[in-house]
Amino acid sequence: MDFKNRFNEKYKTTPKLFGKEPTPILKKALTYIDKGKALELGVGNGKNTLYLSANSFKVTGVDISKEGIKILKERSAGNPNLNLVVSNVLEFKTAEKFNLVLTIGLLYFSEKNKINSLIRKMKKWTAPGV
Ligand SMILES: C[S@@+](CC[C@H](N)C(=O)[O-])C[C@H]1O[C@@H](n2cnc3c(N)ncnc32)[C@H](O)[C@@H]1O
Repeated sequence: MDFKNRFNEKYKTTPKLFGKEPTPILKKALTYIDKGKALELGVGNGKNTLYLSANSFKVTGVDISKEGIKILKERSAGNPNLNLVVSNVLEFKTAEKFNLVLTIGLLYFSEKNKINSLIRKMKKWTAPGV
């Protein structure tokens, strides 16, 4: 089973997968980063994106799993500061720049030879001077 189907199954059977508490390093990072726009790659069912949104960020969240995004849409109840996209991050395109670009728990599932190019894109999507 590929990652997309595997995560779709996981989110369907365990909607509370990964819990609600943000990843500790994100809490710490916010003490250094100006509020503004954030891009989360592999947003899943959204614990980190919800935390960013609760801390005044406008967030774009991308995930290959439509089931994860569905849960996050339910959790965020039409929050206008969230832009949620079902896509493989390797195919995701945007002309926007963000104060924060993060990915937590996604790179384990990425092919080694695709990681460098994704990190280059993450740098490109990061606003100058951040
Ligand atoms: C371990 S979960 C982490 C979810 C979330 N970041 C968190 O910390 O709760 C990894 C997520 O990455 C997503 N993912 C894996 N490979 C992906 C890809 N190529 N493009 C988009 N999402 C992907 C999975 O669907 C899953 O939701």
